[in-house]
Amino acid sequence: MATEKLKEFRTTVNDEEMLRAYNANFEAHKVGITTQQSAQYYTKWARTGAYDQDILQGKIYNGPQIAGAALAKHFPSNRDDVSILDVAAGTGYVAEELLKHGFEVIDALDPSEGMLEVARTKGLYRKYICEFLTDRTAGLQEDEYDCCVVSGGMGEGHIPCSGLYEMIRVVKPGGLVCIVMREEYLSYVEDYKNKLEPLMSQLENEGKWRRLSREVIPNYSFNKNGIIFKYEKCKD
Ligand SMILES: C[S@@+](CC[C@H](N)C(=O)[O-])C[C@H]1O[C@@H](n2cnc3c(N)ncnc32)[C@H](O)[C@@H]1O
Repeated sequence: MATEKLKEFRTTVNDEEMLRAYNANFEAHKVGITTQQSAQYYTKWARTGAYDQDILQGKIYNGPQIAGAALAKHFPSNRDDVSILDVAAGTGYVAEELLKHGFEVIDALDPSEGMLEVARTKGLYRKYICEFLTDRTAGLQEDEYDCCVVSGGMGEGHIPCSGLYEMIRVVKPGGLVCIVMREEYLSYVEDYKNKLEPLMSQLENEGKWRRLSREVIPNYSFNKNGIIFKYEKCKD
């Protein structure tokens, strides 16, 4: 299905720059890619300097701006006091947006050393945690953050469904989990199809979190729709 999507996209796009970026991005999301292979791929992509060039802000991939605006809407004031864990932080685009909105306390978590190396050169984060988000990630404390944000970290071979448990664990009761991802991944990434949203609902039924919104937005990346999930961690 994902391979068909690529072929379909290739026949519709006539912008060479976008096609090159799409192909590069597709390599990190190939069907059957493991999380380790994906992280290694990102490291190579980042170390050549091509990741930041390929993912041209405002043209190809708008996840960071969308995530930044979503958090700004949720936290209308005292943003300098809000502690945020940026999961799948990559080279730091989300932090760049958050800083523009006045957020100051941001930690980065990403398994790709190469992506974090680039983020470090920008000096955007308080801490850099080089780990995969799984159902239990070393180096993260319970109830530590006011907010956990993910933009672009969901996909084939990326954050597993079980990562939701960890997103909930690390935020404080009443804290926000915000996930921004490509909408179509819900229907064709095998790990998410009929699993990710059902797990979100199950966690809500179990009283772990409460859905604040589920919003489909146009032009998330490569002119494709994105989806923003916002959940509040329940106070016991
Ligand atoms: C498309 S990049 C997005 C980077 C950044 N958030 C942005 O919006 O520009 C995807 C990132 O997800 C990271 N990633 C993949 N699997 C992950 C996992 N299990 N836990 C945390 N990050 C992961 C990759 O290393 C990569 O840096």
